[in-house]
Amino acid sequence: MVKFILNGGEAETDAPAATRLIDLLRDEFLLIGPKEGCGDGECGTCSVLVNGLLQNSCLIPIGAIEGAEIVTIDGFSKTEQFRVLSECYSEAGAVQCGFCIPGMVMASTALLSKNPHPTEDEIREGISGNLCRCTGYNMIVDAIDLAAKKGDGLW
Ligand code: FES
Ligand code: FES
Repeated sequence: MVKFILNGGEAETDAPAATRLIDLLRDEFLLIGPKEGCGDGECGTCSVLVNGLLQNSCLIPIGAIEGAEIVTIDGFSKTEQFRVLSECYSEAGAVQCGFCIPGMVMASTALLSKNPHPTEDEIREGISGNLCRCTGYNMIVDAIDLAAKKGDGLW
């Protein structure tokens, strides 16, 4: 059995240790915020926070998360930081098809937690593990820049 903290609550599973975290989250816990794009650590659509760090849940076997604190977009969406990011993504027109956005938002909060006032280059570096086919990234960069200003003091 693997025990961990999921979106602030205690969680456990009897799934095999080699099960991928993304499959556990989506299939057993019905948290469908993290998406599977590549399944290979390349696109970031499956991004979650593990002990506060941005991770690709498609690459993590659940045997490695014993005792860890996992936050998915589903849990993060209840926070004030999410509210600010969501407003700023909307205001900047940063969402088109939206498939990449749960991962982008998790990358955004991971970045702002480490660096609440990032430069444009630092924002681009912060989302460099997350692919978006629609926006050309500029509006997403604008959204994060706006969130850093509007959410000053939240991260
Ligand atoms: S699905 Fe995990 S990085 Fe692409
Ligand atoms: S908005 Fe479509 S992939 Fe990013």
